[in-house]
Amino acid sequence: MAGKLESKNVLVTGSRRGIGKGIALEAAREGANVAVNDLTGADELETLVKEIRGMGRRAVAVLADVSRGDEVNRMVETVERDLGPIDVLVNNAGVESIIPFLEIDEKEWERVTHTNLKGEWLCAQAVARRMVAAKRPGAFVNIGSVQAGMVLPGRTHYAPSKRAIEALTANLAAELAPHNIRVNCIHPGLIDTDMTAWVMKDPQILPIVLDKIALHRAGQPVEIAKAVVFLASDDASYITGQYLYVDGGFRIL
Ligand SMILES: NC(=O)c1ccc[n+]([C@@H]2O[C@H](COP(=O)([O-])OP(=O)(O)OC[C@H]3O[C@@H](n4cnc5c(N)ncnc54)[C@H](O)[C@@H]3O)[C@@H](O)[C@H]2O)c1
Repeated sequence: MAGKLESKNVLVTGSRRGIGKGIALEAAREGANVAVNDLTGADELETLVKEIRGMGRRAVAVLADVSRGDEVNRMVETVERDLGPIDVLVNNAGVESIIPFLEIDEKEWERVTHTNLKGEWLCAQAVARRMVAAKRPGAFVNIGSVQAGMVLPGRTHYAPSKRAIEALTANLAAELAPHNIRVNCIHPGLIDTDMTAWVMKDPQILPIVLDKIALHRAGQPVEIAKAVVFLASDDASYITGQYLYVDGGFRIL
């Protein structure tokens, strides 16, 4: 049986580990050729490329900083040269830090907002320009966060960068719909990755957080990946401009 992304070329940013790695592997399981990217971690990316090739798919790794336009353009050019035209972009690369508002400096504000928001904008523009020029359809999935709709201490930089992904998604969806490019967003809840290791390992904090999640557990990267595959696939052909919380019921209690 053909996979949900059979023979599609998929670029997943920030995919050397965590949710991005989970998305890259699930896309390959569903038949896609996959381009993996990260700011750092060439060895981890190469290991992932080998794993994807071992599944019978084509794969390429590109080190690039998604917050820099020149690097994003080089990344997209390399992916299209080595893999072929990109059909699916998953804007996953992101960074978080927890710093009280009165202490945070401009450099950290820029690191977080430029990675999480500007990075998604730059990647979307670089890929969309090529799709539109080639008159090819496509699908983008932007990774936001459950924190887009929450107020937690020390997140005056992270939360706005993620809330803005909703506005970015809706505006991109409207502008790109005439070109047959769909754009959606997933807001993950607490997912078990390096980013959240400090919560997962803290016997005091973890039960407090789990008490706020209806399913009373953290999610795994593959549970985000399956929702990404759905939104990127033709099963979601009439869905655009939406955001989907994949959070085990974080905000419903
Ligand atoms: N883990 C969670 O609970 C959770 C919850 C909500 C949202 N998210 C979001 O999901 C995405 C993935 O998070 P994760 O938990 O896998 O985190 P992670 O830290 O394990 O992985 C993020 C990856 O992005 C890469 N990256 C950072 N800056 C980059 C840049 N400028 N260019 C390219 N790559 C860059 C990192 O090197 C890292 O490999 C992020 O956007 C994060 O904000 C995560």
